[in-house]
Amino acid sequence: MTRALQVTLFFVAFKATLATLVNRTIDDTIGDLRTGKGVSYSPAGAWTGPGQCPACWIQPDATLAHNGTFMETSYLPGTELAERVPEVSLSLEFRGTAIYVFFTYANDIGRSGATTRTECDIVLDNGSPVNIQREPDMSITELSYQQLFWHRTGLEDKDHTLVIHGRGPRRSYINFDYALYTTTLLF
Ligand SMILES: *[C@@H]1O[C@H](CO)[C@@H](O)[C@H](O)[C@H]1NC(C)=O
Ligand SMILES: *[C@@H]1O[C@H](CO)[C@@H](O)[C@H](O)[C@H]1NC(C)=O
Repeated sequence: MTRALQVTLFFVAFKATLATLVNRTIDDTIGDLRTGKGVSYSPAGAWTGPGQCPACWIQPDATLAHNGTFMETSYLPGTELAERVPEVSLSLEFRGTAIYVFFTYANDIGRSGATTRTECDIVLDNGSPVNIQREPDMSITELSYQQLFWHRTGLEDKDHTLVIHGRGPRRSYINFDYALYTTTLLF
């Protein structure tokens, strides 16, 4: 074996050993501090953060949410509000091989007629929507924080766009807290 080949093989082995998978955070409010990319909300006025909706029936405790923030909305088809807000969505971008989305859920808030269920259409890279539904747990009055709502692994290591929609015929309470994505670090 020539010395040049030995050196090359050494670096190939070295590089492979130092490829590490790490999770990075996209917070609902501060976004991804590494890339500077934020989360977009549509329509912006339909989404509120901690303390911004005093009249809302569901009052999450921001101190239990990731980094003390969340962004929430209620999608209410069949009401007057729906004429102004026919659909709500949020979108974010990441580069990596896996994505995990964390929501806060409402349960029994003690008000009949409240929209406490969560339902979204999730669209990754303009693909087919995946419909995810979560019904309230009527045996508890507290909200459920930092819950894994949806995830996908085994993605190609490239730039991805994720859009989460509130749309369709059923009402939905949507409270986005944060997302994690898995990225490969090469040294
Ligand atoms: C990233 O976070 C998810 C969800 O918590 C976890 O299942 C996964 O093992 C984590 N991956 C890495 C590389 O830490
Ligand atoms: C949220 O994250 C920012 C940036 O990392 C940090 O400065 C701030 O202290 C955090 N706030 C809370 C409540 O964790």
